Amino acid sequence: MQKTFYLETFGCQMNVHDSEKVVGTLLAEGYRQVESVEEAGLILYNTCSIRDKAEQRVFHRLADFRRLQAQGKKFGVLGCVAQQEGEKIFERAPHVSLVCGSASYRNLSQMLVQIEAGKRATGLDDRQTDETFETEFTARSHPHRGYITIIEGCDKFCAFCVVPYTRGKERSRTSASVLDEAGRMAEAGFTEIQLLGQNVNSYKDPSGRMSFPGLLAAVGEVPGIRRVRFTTSHPRDFTREIVAAIDAVPALCDHVHLPVQSGSSRVLAAMAREYTREQYLERIAWIRAARRDISVTTDLIAGFPGESEAEFEETLSLVEEVGYDGAFAFKYSPRPNTPALDMPDSVPESEKARRLAALQERQREVSTRRNARHVGEILEVMVEGKNEARGQWVGRTSQNKVLNFTVPAGIQPCLGGYLRVGVTRSFPNSLAGEVVG
Ligand code: 5AD
Ligand code: SF4
Repeated sequence: MQKTFYLETFGCQMNVHDSEKVVGTLLAEGYRQVESVEEAGLILYNTCSIRDKAEQRVFHRLADFRRLQAQGKKFGVLGCVAQQEGEKIFERAPHVSLVCGSASYRNLSQMLVQIEAGKRATGLDDRQTDETFETEFTARSHPHRGYITIIEGCDKFCAFCVVPYTRGKERSRTSASVLDEAGRMAEAGFTEIQLLGQNVNSYKDPSGRMSFPGLLAAVGEVPGIRRVRFTTSHPRDFTREIVAAIDAVPALCDHVHLPVQSGSSRVLAAMAREYTREQYLERIAWIRAARRDISVTTDLIAGFPGESEAEFEETLSLVEEVGYDGAFAFKYSPRPNTPALDMPDSVPESEKARRLAALQERQREVSTRRNARHVGEILEVMVEGKNEARGQWVGRTSQNKVLNFTVPAGIQPCLGGYLRVGVTRSFPNSLAGEVVG
C-alpha cells in the first residue's frame, strides 16, 4: 500500500514555503498527500513558536489525535517548536516519532526511512550550518505566485525574538541559484515571485556577485515575471538602494513591509533593534521620496517589558506620523532563551491587552484614511478568486491591497490574470471597484 501523509502548517510565510519543500520531498520519496488526519499514515505539524499561543496550538493538536497512534499512525513535529523543545517533545507527547527543526530539512529523507523502520528520528543539530535547504522538488501550492527563499536564519537577536534560536544562523543562497529558480518558475507560468527571509536586507551573495537591491532588480527583470515582493525587512539594514531599485524596475511591487516594533527610542534600544525612532523615520522619508506611491506596512509590539504609558503613546504617534497602510500588532509574549525574559516586567496583562486594542484601533483609523486615497484611481490587480456570494471577484494590487471588483458583461476574468480596476469605494482593510475597458 502507498505511504500517505497529512501536513498542517502554522506560522509565517517562511514556514508555508518550507512546507512546500517538505511536501515535495515526501512526494519524491513515494508518499501521497492526503487531506485528513484519518486517511494519513504519517501526520506532520510544521510549527511556529513566535508567540506562546502559536506554540500551544501544536500541543493541543497532538493531544487531540493521540488516540490514532493505536491505528499505527506516526506523528512528526517540524519547524520552530521542534527546534525549541527538542527531545522534550517525546516526553510530553510520547506518540511522536520525528522531531526536526528547519535547519535539518536537508536530511529529511534519511529521517523518514528511520521512522518507517519504527525508530525515532531527530534533526536538531544543524543550526550552525552554512547550507540552505534547496530542492528541485518544491510542491508549490499556488499556480501563479510562488516563494523563493534567499536567506535562512537570523543573526539579529532582538531581545524578544525566538527566531535566531529556532532557525539558526544567517546563511544566503547564491544569486545564481535564486535566479535559476526564478527562471524556472517563469517558464512554468508563474508571474509573481515573493523573495523570503527573516531579514532579506542582510542578504549576502556567497559568490559575491550581487547585493540585495541588485538581486531584487535581477529577479524583476526575469522575462515573464510581472510582480516581485520581498519580506521581511529589518530597518537597520534597509537602504536607499532598495527604494531606487523599486523606482527603476517596474516589476518590483509598490510595497515595503518594514517592522518597527515600537515608536520609542528607549524601548527600541531595550529591544536591541539597533535603530532609533529618528533613524526609522529617515528610512520612511526615503520611501516617501520615491517616484512611485509605495505602501508601507509594519509589525508592532504592545507591552514590551518596562514600556511606560508615555513610551506606548510614542508608538501611537508613530503610527499616525508614518501613516501605515496596514500593521500587525501583537501583545508581547515571553519566549524561551530570549534576553527579554529576564527583564523586569511591570506592565500587567490587562494593561498590555488595553494597549494592543488601542494600537489596533488607531491603525484601523489610519488604514481607513490611507485606503480612501485610492478612490478614483485605476489600479492593476492580479485576479485571486471569486466571492460567489457577493458576486465579486477578488484581486490584489501591487501595493498588496485586496481589491474586490465587478466585471462588465462579456468579460470573463481568469485566475492569475491581470486586470485594470477603477476603485470606487474603500474600507479599513480592502478596496472595491469595477474593471475598466
Ligand atoms: N511577542 C510578541 N510579538 C512578537 N513578535 C516576535 N516575537 C514576539 C514576541 N515575543 C512579532 C514581531 C515580529 C513579528 C513576526 O512577530 O512584531 O515582527
Ligand atoms: Fe514562527 Fe518565527 Fe518560526 Fe516563522 S520563523 S514559524 S514566525 S517562530
